[in-house]
Amino acid sequence: MTAGNRRVSAAAARTHTRKGKSDKRSAASSRGILRKLAIVSIAGFLACAYKAIQPPPSAICGSPDGPPVTAPRIRLQDGRHLAYKESGVPRERAKYKIIMTHGFTGSRNDTFQASEELMEELGVYLVTFDRPGYGESDPHPKRSVRSAAFDIEEFADQLDLGPKFYVMGFSLGGHAIWGCLKYIPNRLAGAALLAPVINYRWPGFPANLSEEAYYEQARQDQWALRVPYYAPWLTYWWMSQKWFPSSSVIQGTWKPLNRHDRELGLKLAASGRSPERLKAALQQGVFESLHRDLMVMFGKWDFDPMELNPFPNNDVPVHIWQGDEDALVPVTLQRYIGEKLSWIHYHELPEVGHLLNLMEAIPDRILKCLLLGEEC
Ligand SMILES: *[C@@H]1O[C@H](CO)[C@@H](O)[C@H](O)[C@H]1NC(C)=O
Ligand SMILES: *[C@@H]1O[C@H](CO)[C@@H](O)[C@H](O)[C@H]1NC(C)=O
Repeated sequence: MTAGNRRVSAAAARTHTRKGKSDKRSAASSRGILRKLAIVSIAGFLACAYKAIQPPPSAICGSPDGPPVTAPRIRLQDGRHLAYKESGVPRERAKYKIIMTHGFTGSRNDTFQASEELMEELGVYLVTFDRPGYGESDPHPKRSVRSAAFDIEEFADQLDLGPKFYVMGFSLGGHAIWGCLKYIPNRLAGAALLAPVINYRWPGFPANLSEEAYYEQARQDQWALRVPYYAPWLTYWWMSQKWFPSSSVIQGTWKPLNRHDRELGLKLAASGRSPERLKAALQQGVFESLHRDLMVMFGKWDFDPMELNPFPNNDVPVHIWQGDEDALVPVTLQRYIGEKLSWIHYHELPEVGHLLNLMEAIPDRILKCLLLGEEC
């Protein structure tokens, strides 16, 4: 081999090594690209998934794109508004002042149906308000059982209801009343819980009793409670997706078992007000109203109502009314609460369903019992 050939082959060898290196480099770089692509697609997928589970923003009342404000409202310290509706006698000459909280899908328009004569005769002022996120009340993304109680206290003070007032809660609105009993008992003149919704996971229930009631629900409704409890961040998606049935109450497929409930439901539907009412109640969006309700009511509570004893001297009346044919709230669990808490007057109404406060004569009986301490 000549010196020249040697140089050539050495150069070729160098080229070869360089080529080998660059092969390796290009393989490494395509692996890098693949890895980057994978990361980008996973991120893209996660972003889409994140977007899918995010609720759309609420249409705030009174904002440029939101529904108008038509009801009187008070402004809370944190800037939120609560819209309300008054009934009964004017508050200046009222002897009894009652704040009422509405149920799931309800609104301030769900006032207590006691007769006007009785309200007048007893001197009852009753005020209902849209719970946060409903109707014309601003949403409260940190809403809880506790915040529901302090909202009521601030609301009462802004309306000048005095040091003590009565509270009354229907169905899911009962969580706010349990909250009042826990956090502001010193402000209460009395409390009435009307077919109040229970949380199956309150630790005070014997496991066999709450499990039996839990599994009696339709499977879709069991899931509608599991998701807000274990994965509240998934609630919006779960309630909006179409692959699995979600809450039968939200989907409107829930069927009452009780005769009165069926008749009242048909009457409401026939009046044509039902869809219109629902639209007004949920006009800011279903997330901060309905879904937030499920998270608050069926999520983790800071306390167990069965451990409360707010009035050791038994000087403040607290009542529960519950129909024994209520297909939404298991009577077995309500009865257990009634038996366990001696400071609560528990009234079980035979052959009555969930909508007991809409039945003839029952609201009048409830008022007389709560305010006058009459036998009931
Ligand atoms: C649940 O268990 C208790 C005893 O722990 C028993 O007395 C009660 O009858 C049971 N209830 C049901 C509904 O099975
Ligand atoms: C309440 O009733 C008023 C008057 O009928 C109506 O304009 C409003 O839309 C209702 N609001 C809700 C939340 O149902």
